Amino acid sequence: MTLTVELYRKFVNLIYKKTGIWFEPSKRYFVDKRLDERIAELGLEKYQEYYQLLKFSNDQREMQHLVNLLTVNETYFFRDFPQLQGFAEEVLLQVVKAKVASGIRKIRLWSAGCSTGEEPYTLAIILLEMLPEPEQWTIEVLATDINTKVIEAARRGLYNSRSVKDVPHEYLERYFVKRRDQYLLNTQVRNMVHFKLLNLMEDQEMENQLEYDFIFCRNVLIYFDPVSRLKVLDSFYQSLKNGGFIYLGHSESVGRITDLFKMKRIGNSIAYYKR
Ligand SMILES: C[S@@+](CC[C@H](N)C(=O)[O-])C[C@H]1O[C@@H](n2cnc3c(N)ncnc32)[C@H](O)[C@@H]1O
Repeated sequence: MTLTVELYRKFVNLIYKKTGIWFEPSKRYFVDKRLDERIAELGLEKYQEYYQLLKFSNDQREMQHLVNLLTVNETYFFRDFPQLQGFAEEVLLQVVKAKVASGIRKIRLWSAGCSTGEEPYTLAIILLEMLPEPEQWTIEVLATDINTKVIEAARRGLYNSRSVKDVPHEYLERYFVKRRDQYLLNTQVRNMVHFKLLNLMEDQEMENQLEYDFIFCRNVLIYFDPVSRLKVLDSFYQSLKNGGFIYLGHSESVGRITDLFKMKRIGNSIAYYKR
């Protein structure tokens, strides 16, 4: 059984159309390996059969299965600590101050491409630590991903020591319960985050997301091609409130971000916001 260059391209295009993720030819080994495993599991004999199944089947279950296999879900709590510190101690506090001054005690955050939940739960912990009297606030943290498996895991809130390696010790004590060699998040933090399956390439779903103060989409758009990156950034622009902030991963230099969003230095941190 061989996968021709032509058929490989067809698979890659199908995945791209569904997810926005673009697999360069250099990623061929990664894609081939997952296709082979899945084809063997299904007992199919030809790549072409699997392609037909993905392309022409009425339900999306097999496509979802493949998407689950092909997404990269690497994440951990307090990832990119300096960026989060700038967010927590400078940007967030400024936003909170402005809200308090105008009598608003509601804050909405969206972690888009949340993987197994470490990022949105980190944000929830930061809110608990930084908001004055958090119990007086309506806090909404939406966490979305295209991968059904990671959403299931995120809802469980149970993590290994690698995931929590960068959690400050006092937070580990305050918000987690140790269970043998794992860490279970307490219910206060778990209840603050609402997890939902959402594909960033689906227009209708994206249009429904509105009025966010902060969007975090870190280490997601690096897997997209420039066209889908811009499409998602345009949607995020619509989803943010005026003055709302967007956070991308450090390695994600997205030129268009400076066309759409304005850069602001707050204290020592640089943040992008909707003009
Ligand atoms: C590397 S993880 C990043 C997790 C977290 N944001 C962080 O920075 O640690 C990328 C996540 O983006 C998700 N993703 C990829 N394409 C997506 C899409 N089209 N819609 C929604 N999520 C997507 C993947 O399933 C994966 O869980």
